[in-house]
Amino acid sequence: DGELSLSRSMINSSDKITRKGGSSIFQHSVEGWKINSSLVLEIRKNILRFLDAERDVSVVKSSFKPGDVIHYVLDRRRTLNISQDLHSLLPEVSPMKNRRFKTCAVVGNSGILLDSGCGKEIDSHDFVIRCNLAPVVEFAADVGAKSDFITMNPSVVQRAFGGFRNESDREKFVHRLSMLNDSVLWIPAFMVKGGEKHVEWVNALILKNKLKVRTAYPSLRLIHAVRGYWLTNKVHIKRPSTGLLMYTLATRFCDEIHLYGFWPFPKDLHGKPVKYHYYDDLKYRYFSNASPHRMPLEFKTLYVLHNRGALKLTTGKCV
Ligand code: CTP
Repeated sequence: DGELSLSRSMINSSDKITRKGGSSIFQHSVEGWKINSSLVLEIRKNILRFLDAERDVSVVKSSFKPGDVIHYVLDRRRTLNISQDLHSLLPEVSPMKNRRFKTCAVVGNSGILLDSGCGKEIDSHDFVIRCNLAPVVEFAADVGAKSDFITMNPSVVQRAFGGFRNESDREKFVHRLSMLNDSVLWIPAFMVKGGEKHVEWVNALILKNKLKVRTAYPSLRLIHAVRGYWLTNKVHIKRPSTGLLMYTLATRFCDEIHLYGFWPFPKDLHGKPVKYHYYDDLKYRYFSNASPHRMPLEFKTLYVLHNRGALKLTTGKCV
């Protein structure tokens, strides 16, 4: 079917990147990489036509009052009530207001990070963005430990914390959040129905344990705006992945963006198997119709931007 063949053809085209170009050329392009600052500015300006990360990264308290009913962004017929807890955790002002950094790392969750030795390099960036509450401690040598901004899809509660069924799951979660100190925890709570009870449990745990983490909940227009930007650039991505969302947001406040852990392919350049996630046994979901994403297409887009000096994509070892 369409989706499957698109995925296969994207992988084949990535094979072309690797086979025709050869791994040495890909690596060479990493070694010889130079930032193209005028392109970075142009991309920032163009993205700003669609969204402003300072504003769209989170709704703020004054936008809602407890009891308000909103429609899910990707499921307009379903609604969500803004609870007292959720309202109390909405930030007063955007957590990214006036924040600017020279270099940022956006860390995806691909198994390509294993054995990369990229931990130190990732931690050396001024601002480190991570996805889906990915664990770091046991993998610090490869993925680093610093997290200034971390996303959490509501499904993470089920997938990594046993649905909070017992006390030890909840403790593990509270411990993970306490390690974040006052970093930003970004929870897409208004995208699709299904995760509302998880979001409520998370909110309740943050409040009960007086965690310092700074919660953020993306604006109702963010995903449409991001999709709109990429569509006008002829990149047809219906549902941008968290990683692509993070790169798009980061263009607002980072002069130099370095991406790690983006490799949505089951093999590396030498044909060695690569895990979908560096930290669990989840399989490659984009092969199935269940996945809404087009990660191989996103990867190709990021690869082109890397070659033009707009961002730096690291898919090998860090030296
Ligand atoms: N990623 C990648 N290659 C992989 C796995 C992940 O490039 N093998 C990138 C994607 O941009 C992804 C991000 O890393 O959005 C974070 O990974 P993950 O937590 O797995 O995201 P998913 O849950 O798969 O997708 P999403 O949260 O975007 O729905």
